[in-house]
Amino acid sequence: MASINQLEDKKSILEQFRETRSRTLEIVKNLETDDYVIQTAFFMSPPKWHIGHVSWIYEAIMNKIDKSYTFYSKEFSEYLNSYYQQFGVPHDKGLRGVVSRPTVEQIFQYFNTINQRVEKFIQSKTLNDEQMKLIIMGFHHECQHQELLVYDLQHLLADQYRPLRKNEIRNQVNVEKKSIHMTGGLYTMGYNGNEFCYDIELPQHKTFLNDYKIDVYPITNEQYLEFIEDGGYDTYKYWLSDGWEKVKDNQWNAPMYWEKISGEWSVRDFLGVRKINPNEPVCHVSYYEADAYCKWAGKRLPTEAEWEKAACWDEEKQEKTIYPWGNEYPTTEKCNLFESYYWGCSNIGTFPKGRSPSGCQHMIGDVWEWTSSEFTGYPGFRSGFDEYNDKWFTNQKVLRGGSFATPNMSIRGSYRNFFRLDERWLFAGFRCAEDI
Ligand SMILES: [Fe+2]
Repeated sequence: MASINQLEDKKSILEQFRETRSRTLEIVKNLETDDYVIQTAFFMSPPKWHIGHVSWIYEAIMNKIDKSYTFYSKEFSEYLNSYYQQFGVPHDKGLRGVVSRPTVEQIFQYFNTINQRVEKFIQSKTLNDEQMKLIIMGFHHECQHQELLVYDLQHLLADQYRPLRKNEIRNQVNVEKKSIHMTGGLYTMGYNGNEFCYDIELPQHKTFLNDYKIDVYPITNEQYLEFIEDGGYDTYKYWLSDGWEKVKDNQWNAPMYWEKISGEWSVRDFLGVRKINPNEPVCHVSYYEADAYCKWAGKRLPTEAEWEKAACWDEEKQEKTIYPWGNEYPTTEKCNLFESYYWGCSNIGTFPKGRSPSGCQHMIGDVWEWTSSEFTGYPGFRSGFDEYNDKWFTNQKVLRGGSFATPNMSIRGSYRNFFRLDERWLFAGFRCAEDI
């Protein structure tokens, strides 16, 4: 765990806590009571559950750092525990939507009570580094669930969802899609800052890369449509065996949420029911689809080390930065994250100011990008949090860069997200790499 210099005063911790809690409320502000309860697929969770669960995690944390802490309610703990065996047997994930109690109103009361308890805790205790680290992790955990909540609202409501704030997406003229040459050699990957990061971003370690090429932009809908129209989904030779089975079993013939309306590919999302925008990064594709596209195109997915070097390494200065543009916090001028309030992908080429030293764009925001790397611990990995990240070190691939639903504070170049290879409900796309 990196030191947490910037957050060591209580005021800043309280501010971050309040900011995070109010963002959760902002996302659900315009929902109807009925919306909170429904679970529309086994992989999503009802909004009511998210609101309770992000609060329950603070209880789990307070229980760890203060042995005298007593949980609010046994019933709430059972329902709101996602998968932490150390806190008892969790409620079945696929059955979060068949529970009418605790009620929505009770969950909001709980949310507010936990707010008060955490604030009191922060204000009254002298927090040591370990306690502070866990409290801060509570904010970051909540940010992760805010993003999951947005995935789930897309599944639950899509065009019927009314965000509290929404900004117009800027138009962008067509840009030249090309790839750039990256020089290989020894690259030191991992988090090199001095603020919060997860255990899985550490330790920094050297890895050898051959020279490679990587796309400046993520693959767009226009490019992905060529794959579809060329029979990509009907041609087994592009697919991994497990992926081909998924295509057949689920009758995949396009990214999730695409549908043909009057013979034209359309999508139903927060921006409405609309024709596919050719200049947006393709979104809602599984690892299998990303991999098949690359094979069709005669390319491959980048490894996470290749992705990170293209995003954060300055060859001229021989230094690595936290973000592609440097070490300054993300702004809406540089990338499309949650705080852009676009509720969708921007057009490629919208953020030249977010360009990396190597020339790659949209590395942060818009869509998470699949990499070919297996999700596992870096050499020398040491677990920082019980049952948080490392119990998922099997059968998942790493994604990098964040999406339009990722809050600013929870993304950086070294951040490693992970999902199973067939998952499509997250905001995920990809860019291609090539050997030289
Ligand atoms: Fe969680």
